[in-house]
Amino acid sequence: MCGIVGYIGQQPAAPIILAGLQKLEYRGYDSAGICTIDGGFADVRRSKGKLQNLVQLLEDSPLQGSVAIGHTRWATHGKPTEVNAHPHQAGPVVLVHNGIIENYLGLKMELRDQKHNFKSETDTEVIAHLIEHKMIGGSGFVDAVRTSLQELEGAYAVCLVSETEPGMMIAAKHGSPLVIGLGDQEFFVASDIPPILNHTREMVFLEDDQMVVFKDGFAHFSTLAGGPLTITPRHIDWSPLMAEKGGYRHFMLKEIFEQPRAVQDTLAGRLLEDEWDVCLDNIGLSDAKLAQVRRVCIVACGTSWHSGLVGKFLLEEHCRLPVEVDIASEFRYRNPVVGPETLLIAISQSGETADTLAAVREAKLRGALAIAVCNVIDSSIARETDGVVYTHAGPEIGVASTKAFVTQLVALYLFMLRLGRAGGSITPERMMPHFTSLLHLPALMEQALLLDNAVEAIARHYQHAGDFLFLGRGINYPIALEGALKLKEISYIHAEGYPAGEMKHGPIALIDENLPVVVIALRDRHYEKVVSNMEEVIARGGRVIAFCTEGDDEVRNRAETVLYLPECSEWIAPVLLSIPMQLLAYHVSVLKGNDVDQPRNLAKSVTVE
Ligand code: G6P
Repeated sequence: MCGIVGYIGQQPAAPIILAGLQKLEYRGYDSAGICTIDGGFADVRRSKGKLQNLVQLLEDSPLQGSVAIGHTRWATHGKPTEVNAHPHQAGPVVLVHNGIIENYLGLKMELRDQKHNFKSETDTEVIAHLIEHKMIGGSGFVDAVRTSLQELEGAYAVCLVSETEPGMMIAAKHGSPLVIGLGDQEFFVASDIPPILNHTREMVFLEDDQMVVFKDGFAHFSTLAGGPLTITPRHIDWSPLMAEKGGYRHFMLKEIFEQPRAVQDTLAGRLLEDEWDVCLDNIGLSDAKLAQVRRVCIVACGTSWHSGLVGKFLLEEHCRLPVEVDIASEFRYRNPVVGPETLLIAISQSGETADTLAAVREAKLRGALAIAVCNVIDSSIARETDGVVYTHAGPEIGVASTKAFVTQLVALYLFMLRLGRAGGSITPERMMPHFTSLLHLPALMEQALLLDNAVEAIARHYQHAGDFLFLGRGINYPIALEGALKLKEISYIHAEGYPAGEMKHGPIALIDENLPVVVIALRDRHYEKVVSNMEEVIARGGRVIAFCTEGDDEVRNRAETVLYLPECSEWIAPVLLSIPMQLLAYHVSVLKGNDVDQPRNLAKSVTVE
């Protein structure tokens, strides 16, 4: 968690750092801070709350200097106060940190015995003191950083400066992400790509236990132990505009509306009509390997877990393989039964979620094949798996996931086709209807987006409800879960998603005239059953908002409110249904005056356990 940025070059550093931090606020926004080195002195400014407070602070008293580090925080150790905000300083050493140092307490006690005074409750401050301690003992800045970092247990990405080396900046990582931007005699460091995009497209994704020292217009890469390192920069072609709001009021709304385009990008170049097959460039597993798969284990967290649940329906139906879907934090601690016959699919927008990454490592240790469904290119999960299906959604800034989710659904659909073809369960003759559905999907999504005004009216009508229930069956049950999660995340209304058939075993007791119940009642194989479940709600005074298929008068005559979706194949229905679900949560959140893009207590990328 947390976002870090660094700059060293000839330009005034503070504005670059602030602009970079703004693009990283999705990683946390409890407090923010910056340090510039100017005339050999470190000048640290920090403030509690959102980045705007820090911006204000700097407007009142600007910072000079062309070397700086900055941080936006999501509190783990210590409350979100100014004193706990980064950067942390000990003597001449100042640093920003993303991650958790697991052995910080022991180190802190030792350093206290050596007369180091700690000001904050953070694990990060220990790193600054450890480095200072070694410098007092005679080490230079670079050596002190090297040896100190090797003593740390846990995860870190750090960016450091020192008053003793005013023209130098150091960055290193173990377990947390760090990207280096290579400019012309200037360098950028950030937890993610967007802060660097405006400055350079040449980037290096630092690997674990690698370090870089910037000095005199050069970047010296090495291993943490000081060994030589050959690095290969990558050219990143995301446009900076892709990372901006593009005229929408919120990133979330922009991201909802760009979903047809995002899905087109997910599909681009992957449907091979001549061969009736799917081309997944980075999958890394031969047909023979895929054909050996006997069972599939999907692991993910949050919204990505919901896409995994949809994936189970796709894979079981079309590949005829048993599929388990696990929450990554549960999987990693329960001695899972996986082996060489198992294919693990890790789904993660960021590719950095700590629990999902740990689940991948666990499964690989037990001999499983592992692939990732990821949005962020070269992220940790993408690198540690045997192959990746990139979703190509582009940068997702809104904390509540939207386009990343629907592109995950499409990527899983594509992978299902590939696995089915490799394993023989899907013949070329059976591919055509799938291709047709997928190729029509962006246009159907455009139609679903036309529901925006209707969904806003629904949001207005039901915005004051204290609770919501979402019901769905089969492949659309995970969409009921996702609809409830979206509403919780950004409107702060309590909501539960339930399989419609299970409602009578508990949630039915909650139903009264105050409870809106969103029922997914498309004309599919579960239609009759869902209509019966809807009747059970109506009979108890519940207020039904039905998401049904165009022209369904039967449902319209019964439900309090209906929303019509275009007719489509049941396998892509989850994608279409996601759109009004997202819009409902969005409009309720706006009506309540909430911070849509940065909901309280959440962070987009959870790189801690
Ligand atoms: C956080 C985000 C969610 C996301 C989950 C998993 O909780 O707020 O939107 O679904 O992490 O993230 P990942 O990057 O692994 O998909």
